[in-house]
Amino acid sequence: MTLQVFLYATFAYPVLYILPAYVANGAPVLFGGGRPLDFKVKIGGKRILGDNKTVRGTFLGIASGIVIGVIECPFLHMLAIAALLSVGALAGDILGSFIKRRAGVESGKSVPLLDQYGFFVVALLFASPLGRLPSAYGLLFLVLLTGLLHVLANMGAYMVGVKKVPW
Ligand code: CTP
Ligand code: MG
Repeated sequence: MTLQVFLYATFAYPVLYILPAYVANGAPVLFGGGRPLDFKVKIGGKRILGDNKTVRGTFLGIASGIVIGVIECPFLHMLAIAALLSVGALAGDILGSFIKRRAGVESGKSVPLLDQYGFFVVALLFASPLGRLPSAYGLLFLVLLTGLLHVLANMGAYMVGVKKVPW
C-alpha cells in the first residue's frame, strides 16, 4: 500500500463516510425545537425522552444528513449508506435520551460516553449491513475525532453563549 492510499483510507475516507451522521446529529441543535417527540408522555412518572428531543429536530436532522449524502453521491455513491447513518444517528441519540430518562438523569445533563458515542455507534450499526465501512485504523481515527469534536462543539457553543458551561 502506498502512503497516499493509507492516508486516504485512514483519514479522508472515514471522515467522508461518517459526515452524514455528524451533520444529522448536529443539525437539530440549529433547527430543533417545538413539539417534543414523546408528546410529553411519561412512563413510571418520568418522561419517555424529555423536551430536548423534538419532532422537527429529528426530521430535519435526518434530512440534513441525507443532503450530505446527496452532495457526496457523485464521488462516493453512498446515498443509501448516508440515509442509514442519518436515521441511525438520530435513533442512537434518542436511545441515549431514553436511557438517561429511565436512569433519572434530567434533560440536558450529561452522561459521559453515552452523549459522545451513542449516535456514532448506532449510526455505524445501521449502515454496516451495506458494507464499505472504513478500515480498522479509520474507525479508530473516527472514535478519537468524535470525542474531540464533541469537546470543541461544546466549547464553541459556550463561547457564542448557547451553553452555560464549556463542557
Ligand atoms: N434537538 C432536537 N431534536 C432532537 C435532538 C436534539 O430538537 N432529536 C435539539 C434540542 O433543541 C436540544 C438540542 O438539539 O435541546 C441539543 O440536543 P442534545 O444535546 O442531544 O440534547 P440534550 O440537552 O443533551 O438532551 P438529553 O438529556 O435528552 O440528551
Ligand atoms: Mg445530549
